[in-house]
Amino acid sequence: MSYNLFLALFWGATAFGLPSKSPSSSVPSCRYALEYSQKDILKDPRSFISDYLYWEGKFHQNNVSYNTENGCSYDGTQIDWSTGEATLKHSFSAASKESLQIMLYAQAISGSQGAARFLSPEKPSAAADIAVSVLEKKLTAYLNFNETYPGFGGFLPWFMSDQQTLSPTWDWVNRVPALDNGELLWAVYGMIQALENSSDQSYRKLAQGWSKWLDYTKSTAAKMFYTGNGNVCTVMDIANQSWPVNDPRQRYTCESTSMLDDPYEGELFTWWLYFYSPLSAQDKEMLWEVKRPKLVSVEYNMGGVGPITVQQGYWFSSHEQWKALEMPYYDVDLVRRLFTNAERARTCNSVVTRNPGMFASVNNITNTTTDEIVGYISPAGIPSISSQTVQEHDVITPYSVFPTLLVDQSVGLAWLRNMLIGKKMQNPYGSTEATRVDGTGVSALLTWDSKVTTVNALLGGVQDLVRQGLRKEGLYNLFISITQREYSRVFKNLKGENIDLCLPEESIPDAGLVDFTLC
Ligand SMILES: *[C@@H]1O[C@H](CO)[C@@H](O)[C@H](O)[C@H]1NC(C)=O
Ligand SMILES: *[C@@H]1O[C@H](CO)[C@@H](O)[C@H](O)[C@H]1NC(C)=O
Ligand SMILES: *[C@@H]1O[C@H](CO)[C@@H](O)[C@H](O)[C@H]1NC(C)=O
Ligand SMILES: *[C@@H]1O[C@H](CO)[C@@H](O)[C@H](O)[C@H]1NC(C)=O
Ligand SMILES: *[C@@H]1O[C@H](CO)[C@@H](O)[C@H](O)[C@H]1NC(C)=O
Ligand SMILES: *[C@@H]1O[C@H](CO)[C@@H](O)[C@H](O)[C@H]1NC(C)=O
Repeated sequence: MSYNLFLALFWGATAFGLPSKSPSSSVPSCRYALEYSQKDILKDPRSFISDYLYWEGKFHQNNVSYNTENGCSYDGTQIDWSTGEATLKHSFSAASKESLQIMLYAQAISGSQGAARFLSPEKPSAAADIAVSVLEKKLTAYLNFNETYPGFGGFLPWFMSDQQTLSPTWDWVNRVPALDNGELLWAVYGMIQALENSSDQSYRKLAQGWSKWLDYTKSTAAKMFYTGNGNVCTVMDIANQSWPVNDPRQRYTCESTSMLDDPYEGELFTWWLYFYSPLSAQDKEMLWEVKRPKLVSVEYNMGGVGPITVQQGYWFSSHEQWKALEMPYYDVDLVRRLFTNAERARTCNSVVTRNPGMFASVNNITNTTTDEIVGYISPAGIPSISSQTVQEHDVITPYSVFPTLLVDQSVGLAWLRNMLIGKKMQNPYGSTEATRVDGTGVSALLTWDSKVTTVNALLGGVQDLVRQGLRKEGLYNLFISITQREYSRVFKNLKGENIDLCLPEESIPDAGLVDFTLC
């Protein structure tokens, strides 16, 4: 076989290949998004995806998104307003960012070509080893953290990761959140499945190490976060983070009356308590009962689109769909249909409101006078189908597409492209955090949240791995029956399933911003 034919077959056979291009063009242009029309992407997205993963992968560097010494994530980094070069990094991170990093590695270990394109485009076959070597360091860091701060019970607060040993950020001393840790736990669970699936003995040994860490949280989760009567605390105050969980002096106090009873990302922690904590059957049942008031059916109906039955959002930020990246929710037909409806509403709402992008909780734009990014815009979504109706709608973000990608890859990619072609929305590390709808400002920042949620959605998250694990443990049917039970109590007949998802119709205006010089 000739070399060229071999390459053609090789590329042709890969999901993300470039069948018609020579290997030298496998280093795509930094501003690749401008080379594709929406039509191109709808016709065949492979080449766009390949370029996208290549450039997002530039985020995966020491001192940019993680610390190669301890294997732990940084929240992200600011980039220079004119060049796009990484400048001021966020030396802190949290369990949620860790979950995104770990999901990506789980995919790499499972042999995902997309993950390899992200992690090691020059040598895709090295991707799994790269992931494993970071995970070895990360495990050591987690175990050291647990030794130094045993009061966290194995869980992570927001932490500083620029030192070899992690430490709580100043505002998370003696405090620990449930929601982010739920995201972390299922990512680790999926990653362990991927390691166990490997024929490499050293991978399976690492799986054992991680299992030990994971199992430990099964023994501490309820002791720390469960306050009785089905209630789970969102943020726990720890009497002294240096005292072990079982120290007679140790005490955990719920920081506020706010409970982890959301039917969104927070549910990942509920499942952990439900499956693995030593709570009584009655307490476990109550975990679901207390959550019921917030699982609400509403109808999207605006601008001639609708009615579409959706699960009421908190803000309807895309971030709220995170749980679908991690557990096999779409195995329940009702949930898959309902979450597809959510994307009908999300995409069509942006068309109806003449928005070139979509909303998700995200960092505000850079103040170019001070070169600072001060605000985080949490309330960004669709007010008419949310419980929180006071929102801020100036800023859109590429990662808003991740739940769309999970139900309709083509439409999700079309929206992604539509935001990436905005001025300054690509940089030497891939996509940029966010842009104003009117094109007058961007957030010159890179974060795991705004970048790797989308990457993970494209790669399929860890749902397949988690499904495999739950099946092995005999918990899968329970996952399905409870999800089915809770959702079918509220959702009977879904309206709007015949409505097409909407494609973008507006562009981010050119308001005079100049692209990053390095891209
Ligand atoms: C890491 O990044 C910071 C900016 O966030 C920079 O000041 C520092 O020199 C970098 N260190 C290394 C080792 O590259
Ligand atoms: C975490 O620390 C506690 C208290 O020192 C210890 O009992 C436990 O075994 C540690 N967990 C792991 C996974 O090493
Ligand atoms: C927390 O515990 C450590 C270790 O026992 C001790 O050195 C420290 O003084 C304690 N802090 C408080 C505020 O009690
Ligand atoms: C940017 O920061 C400057 C200096 O603090 C402030 O005066 C200005 O109002 C800020 N601009 C915006 C748009 O917030
Ligand atoms: C975001 O920045 C704009 C100015 O560009 C400001 O008006 C708005 O209040 C900021 N929002 C948050 C949540 O920081
Ligand atoms: C794990 O390995 C088994 C046996 O080779 C295979 O059937 C399964 O699909 C693999 N699972 C994943 C998630 O890759």
